[in-house]
Amino acid sequence: MTDTITTEQPVYVTDALIAEDIDQYLKVHEHKTMLRFITCGSVDDGKSTLIGRLLYDSKMIFEDQLAALENDSKKVGTQGQDIDFALLVDGLAAEREQGITIDVAYRFFNTEKRKFIVADCPGHEQYTRNMVTGASTADLAVILIDARKGVLVQTRRHSYLCHLIGIRNIVLAVNKMDLVDYDPVVFDAIVKDYTEFARSIGIESFTAMPISGFKGDNITTRSANTPWYNGPTLVDHLETVEVLSSLDADKPFRMPVQWVNRPNLDFRGFSGLVATGSVKPGDEIRVLPSGKTSKVTRVVTLDGDLDQAVAGQSVTLCLADEVDCSRGDVIALADNPPQAADQFEATLVWLNDEAMLPGRAYWLKLATQTVSATVQQPKYVVNVNTMEHLAAKTLELNAIGVAELATDKPLVFEPYADSRTLGGFVLIDKITNATVAAGMLHFSLRRAQNVHWQALDVSREAHAALKHQKPAVLWFTGLSGSGKSTIANLVEKRLHAVGKHTFLLDGDNVRHGLNKDLGFTEADRIENIRRVGEVAKLMTDAGLIVLTAFISPFRAEREMVRSLMADGEFIEVFIDTPLEVAESRDVKGLYKKARSGQLKNFTGIDSPYEAPQNPEIRVDTTEETPENAAERIVNQLLGWAPTI
Ligand code: ADX
Repeated sequence: MTDTITTEQPVYVTDALIAEDIDQYLKVHEHKTMLRFITCGSVDDGKSTLIGRLLYDSKMIFEDQLAALENDSKKVGTQGQDIDFALLVDGLAAEREQGITIDVAYRFFNTEKRKFIVADCPGHEQYTRNMVTGASTADLAVILIDARKGVLVQTRRHSYLCHLIGIRNIVLAVNKMDLVDYDPVVFDAIVKDYTEFARSIGIESFTAMPISGFKGDNITTRSANTPWYNGPTLVDHLETVEVLSSLDADKPFRMPVQWVNRPNLDFRGFSGLVATGSVKPGDEIRVLPSGKTSKVTRVVTLDGDLDQAVAGQSVTLCLADEVDCSRGDVIALADNPPQAADQFEATLVWLNDEAMLPGRAYWLKLATQTVSATVQQPKYVVNVNTMEHLAAKTLELNAIGVAELATDKPLVFEPYADSRTLGGFVLIDKITNATVAAGMLHFSLRRAQNVHWQALDVSREAHAALKHQKPAVLWFTGLSGSGKSTIANLVEKRLHAVGKHTFLLDGDNVRHGLNKDLGFTEADRIENIRRVGEVAKLMTDAGLIVLTAFISPFRAEREMVRSLMADGEFIEVFIDTPLEVAESRDVKGLYKKARSGQLKNFTGIDSPYEAPQNPEIRVDTTEETPENAAERIVNQLLGWAPTI
């Protein structure tokens, strides 16, 4: 049966979506190995026709589908052929109308020897993200070329993307050979051309074959039209090529822990999918990032214990010792573990309509680990048509670039080139939960390994105790002219008067010193708040009550600062003044300048302000005097009963 699932999400998500279908499908063909592959090309190259042909020839079409197909073919009219295979594949109505493939469609089929999942991706440049998604779990790529046209810009782009994602089996399918009279000279010239290009981007080998999806030459049976071709048919090749997962079995053992299996007090095991290598009872293992070692006592599965588990199998490991180990940890060979680090260089493919914001904290998911990560301005982006490296300040939708990133906790990883599982990751927007990027780790930065946390004897508790107070951050946020500085100043005066040790960090002041290199672009504002957040954190470590008065327009950065502080220490104070009111006050005359176009990126005018959704304290300055608000804030902070 054919099956179509469309998605815009990376494959990590897609996997879950199609898990049910795959489950059923796998049961039927349990004994066979599986090959996941991707087809690259555009409608003109005959991609849909080729996939349709593969499905048809492997008898994966039910009678009723066949009848519908024949009907459709009659409507559309096919060039003297009974069935238009492309119609089978371009199942989405929208695709048929527009004549292009939009999403990633996954289809299953099988032959005597193997089962297959083929990702069918659109080839246009604006669908780079779809191709990356489809390629991310593929073992092999079929790059389609129209024999009449030869190697095109898109051929280069598709090959580059597939190689980048780590596909090492490339099939160069020179299609439509029937339209060039099966001429070996045409075929050889295309192969020569492609060889040159492939070398230049590091593709070491590929398999070229002359085919016709339309006529069926060299698809399942060797064609009499190409007596000069001695290689395998496409299906032969797909059935016999070595799949990546079998190579993974030869690598050192690693298993990211998905969950701790503890049904009762007598059993404790760690469940996960073996990413690389193999494991058996008696093996010495190490849990990362803690580094604790132990020995495997049992390898448990639903069907009983195993003598050995290899890459690709889901198992539960029991260990000899009560080691600390939870979801996100990685169990690895004791004497050959992967590294952990918190700063990296990586290639990123940007998948979101909104461009990357350097400095913004995103969730980074790698195997079963989730950490917070910020990305720096890219070192360069790659022009996917020419492979040139270009300077860039950000990554736009479909852009591919190399950048450094930092995580808030050590990440157990391996370079993507060594392990797709421990080197591939996605970035997720913390507010919208959208997957914004797919990434591949290159290496950790040396500076991350050489800077260690220094333990200090006078603790933050000791600092606070000496001051007889509980440290806190009162984070004032609101539009320019909303009254943040005024109210924060009154609050500080009151706290000072009752003997509290405080410090007020004010936007305008900090921008004269520590942050005088920053302007008002989104990236600069993010950096402004990051630095202020770090300073506020140090001040709470010193036992102070910190007040900050910054517009801090973005929810994500305010949440990032909250996450730096201990629970309950961050108190968001929203100075809620409508734009009209702040503008009518215009204490510094800045709104006037912004309205007249003299001042760009002004908050509320041509730069956004994202109001807090659940601030600890909200002050409506149209209804409450600054004095009253200050008193209320102090009372709430110190747990005092209100006096008014
Ligand atoms: S933030 O957005 O990065 O948090 P911050 O609070 O430090 O801003 O600085 C805001 C102050 O800078 C405003 O009160 C105003 O006096 C001044 N300012 C100058 N240019 C701008 C601008 N384009 N947008 C907002 N404030 C500006």
